[in-house]
Amino acid sequence: MTSSFDVNRVNWDDRAAIHMADRTGSYRVSEFLAGGDCLHDIEHDEIGDVRGKRIAHLQCHFGLDTLSLARRGASCVGLDFSPVALAGARDLQRRTGLDASFVAGNVYDARRLITGSFDLVYVTWGAINWLPDMKAWAQVVASLLKPGGALYLLEGHPSLLTIDEYSEKLHPAYDWRTPPDRPIIMTEENSYTGDKDQIAHPETHEWIHPLSDIINAVIAAGLTLDWLHEHERLAWQFAPIMVKVEEGLRRPLWRLPDGFPRLPLAFSLSARKAG
Ligand SMILES: C[S@@+](CC[C@H](N)C(=O)[O-])C[C@H]1O[C@@H](n2cnc3c(N)ncnc32)[C@H](O)[C@@H]1O
Repeated sequence: MTSSFDVNRVNWDDRAAIHMADRTGSYRVSEFLAGGDCLHDIEHDEIGDVRGKRIAHLQCHFGLDTLSLARRGASCVGLDFSPVALAGARDLQRRTGLDASFVAGNVYDARRLITGSFDLVYVTWGAINWLPDMKAWAQVVASLLKPGGALYLLEGHPSLLTIDEYSEKLHPAYDWRTPPDRPIIMTEENSYTGDKDQIAHPETHEWIHPLSDIINAVIAAGLTLDWLHEHERLAWQFAPIMVKVEEGLRRPLWRLPDGFPRLPLAFSLSARKAG
């Protein structure tokens, strides 16, 4: 039987090929190869100095953020289940010579697949919505951390994910908690980058996890919450009505238009293993 992971993996193989071509400039591959950094303002402000840190980047896609962290002086391992994305990540690593390696596999198998333990487990922007079980995920995260090491998680806000992005007034369309065995099945012909290329395998299986489920899973895995933030900016144009936040040197973020009620669009947290 085809699992949700299999459905999502072939979708991500298609998307990775589209994203790596970077025809819309959304991923800033050429800026990265010219010596730039692909992090957004939010993570830049929140992660602090990563020089000398060992970082495990889960669901690293084609490695731009992993390699951006390495360019900041960290030693990184990225993990993703898409072979197409990983081939791209390894190619970028070869071209830049940065201190990063890449491992193929499912997040839930990360402890078995990745050697060593880490100062930081880094998970950002569009990762946990592909995972059915937050408790098992948090156990994996905790098992990768050194004593005193921290999880950094930055994600789309679960309240936002319940909304139908194509409705002008942003009406709720999905339940706030998705049962593990009943994922939200979506079909999207094009990726969020604005590329015109059609995704050959457009079906995806996704989950919405309430903030309380995420935080309680992290606590149940033995981590202590350092802080929790909510943000009015997001890394992708979730809905057509969203507007680009004027970009400085970093990758752009998106916000709701003026006049629309202010809502939290993203959240981030740091949680630490006892030292
Ligand atoms: C939106 S991208 C994450 C982007 C990320 N912020 C980055 O560094 O570019 C989601 C990634 O999760 C990966 N993914 C989805 N489910 C996964 C799973 N169960 N195990 C490993 N990787 C997975 C996909 O292949 C994809 O590369």
